[in-house]
Amino acid sequence: MHVLSVRDLRKRYVLGESAVQALDGIDLTLERGEFVAIMGPSGSGKSTFMQIAGMLDTPTSGEYLFEGADVSSLNADARAAIRSRRLGFVFQAYNLLPRTTALDNVELPMVYAGVPDAQRRQTALEKMTLVGVDRLADHHPNQMSGGQQQRVAIARALVNDPALILADEPTGALDTKTSADVMRILARLNEEQGSTIMLVTHEPDIAAYAGRIVTFRDGRIVADVRNDRRAA
Ligand SMILES: Nc1ncnc2c1ncn2[C@@H]1O[C@H](COP(=O)(O)OP(=O)(O)O)[C@@H](O)[C@H]1O
Ligand SMILES: [Mg+2]
Repeated sequence: MHVLSVRDLRKRYVLGESAVQALDGIDLTLERGEFVAIMGPSGSGKSTFMQIAGMLDTPTSGEYLFEGADVSSLNADARAAIRSRRLGFVFQAYNLLPRTTALDNVELPMVYAGVPDAQRRQTALEKMTLVGVDRLADHHPNQMSGGQQQRVAIARALVNDPALILADEPTGALDTKTSADVMRILARLNEEQGSTIMLVTHEPDIAAYAGRIVTFRDGRIVADVRNDRRAA
């Protein structure tokens, strides 16, 4: 069963007199359990694709099936429901709420999903344990390192057991060693929990952790290869 399948996906931005063809006919299918890295030069359409895949933006044309459902036929509420229940997001800048503990940050997606209090706490602590930040439950973001904040953000992305985790440059703000720690966690989630992950990076060392590497150029896919992943 595929998680995501797009056909001839296009996105055109119009800015006054000029237009940019950010996506120029993307065909891509992700199977459950895949770990895919999207690479490509700046401006090649990677973030635009992630925004559309994450249903934060809509394409100009083309087909997008998510777990078999035609996303273009869904209204904004239905897309938001899939976004909060079936997708997990990890951002370059972590995007944790600053005056909120790590535990409360991790619980937040479950608040939106209407999960009862006690179960929220239990699930949040489970996911924090999985990524090794359970002992930081009471810490606020400014009391944690970048790597710790990103691991809390990964725990947050896991709480609703998403069908797909989307990460745009998740190591972009981290040093080399911390980046490797974060990538090992993602690789382990993929191998041991079966998490399906699509991440964007422009660094070959980061892409090396994925089992498949897709390269964008000028809004098109120019390479799509299996990768002998780096040992996690
Ligand atoms: N909101 C937007 N409005 C206008 N142009 C945009 C917008 N977002 C991206 N673009 C343009 O679309 C192209 C692809 O951008 P992007 O998807 O951010 O590439 P990447 O993530 O690979 O660097 C670039 O030319 C960029 O300037
Ligand atoms: Mg980008």
